[in-house]
Amino acid sequence: MALLFKSGSTRTQWWLEEFKTQAPDLEVRVWPEVGNTAEIDFALVWLPEPGELKRYPNLKAIFSLGAGVDHLFRDPDLPKLPVTRVVDVNLTRRMTEYVVLQVLRHHRQSPAYEEQQRRSQWQELKQPAADQRTVGIMGLGVLGADSGEKLVNLGFNVIGWSRTKKQVAKIKSYAGTAELDAFLGQSEILVCLLPLTRDTEDILNARTFAKLPRGASLVNVARGAHVVESDLIAALDSEQLSHATLDVFRKEPLPPESPFWLHPKVTVTPHCASYTDPRTVISQVVENMRRARAGEPLLHTVDITLGY
Ligand SMILES: NC(=O)c1ccc[n+]([C@@H]2O[C@H](COP(=O)([O-])OP(=O)(O)OC[C@H]3O[C@@H](n4cnc5c(N)ncnc54)[C@H](OP(=O)(O)O)[C@@H]3O)[C@@H](O)[C@H]2O)c1
Repeated sequence: MALLFKSGSTRTQWWLEEFKTQAPDLEVRVWPEVGNTAEIDFALVWLPEPGELKRYPNLKAIFSLGAGVDHLFRDPDLPKLPVTRVVDVNLTRRMTEYVVLQVLRHHRQSPAYEEQQRRSQWQELKQPAADQRTVGIMGLGVLGADSGEKLVNLGFNVIGWSRTKKQVAKIKSYAGTAELDAFLGQSEILVCLLPLTRDTEDILNARTFAKLPRGASLVNVARGAHVVESDLIAALDSEQLSHATLDVFRKEPLPPESPFWLHPKVTVTPHCASYTDPRTVISQVVENMRRARAGEPLLHTVDITLGY
């Protein structure tokens, strides 16, 4: 019995050290050196090659190495097994730090002040108070709700949009397609924290941008495929949007020829808003392996029909 491990980053060594400390008896096979595939009964993976996971005849469950699972469901041959994702306080906190940092940056007009500095221009800009600023969070799940709560604590007017209605203190909840325009119409800073599914792909498009208040800004920390890139550039160039902070892209690493790199109204970060911390996540993996073997329900399963 062994765990297949594939990490999408340079952190493999860090994970292996943590496995040794926290689960010394667990046999971990690091892709692509997997040995006999029949000996592998669980997979903890990020971005597996399509068709890879069907090669393991005794797999009991698939654990996503991240909070998102779109990297698994892009595989048409994904085995029909329980799929879990990471829900972890450190991942949530890191994401909230990033969202709060970027919302404050937009709210306090940092891109405009940075531009003024480049021109040696000393000019104070009119600054609305936090309660005069509405932050709209698309996706009021684990990450969106935590970011929203922290922004409420800073005094912002926070609203959220999700598939079903939510009860989060002091955050007005909008749900479904019928309430999308009402939500967008107020969102001066729009934060995308949706999962990538058939329903949400391309959702940040020309129509969506046109519904936002003029001069709104965007923070996309979800997935690159939520954004229609040419529509975003057009919305920035026409000043419908004043700035976009993008952490995720259709193609990662972002190719050198991407217009986002040099666009004066775009901030690019290399998909670093948050990440899965082996210090706290390995115990979840070990617990889920125990549960699967005991026939008990797994922690943090995703709904395969909804895709998140
Ligand atoms: N950039 C990074 O470093 C990074 C790191 C971690 C995660 N992420 C991204 O963040 C995403 C969100 O993570 P999470 O843990 O917060 O997910 P989650 O708990 O599953 O929350 C997803 C939210 O999106 C809503 N939603 C889903 N489909 C929708 C639709 N068609 N229309 C409206 N709302 C919809 C859900 O509505 P209901 O509540 O009604 O179900 C829920 O509120 C992940 O999927 C991942 O792509 C990025």
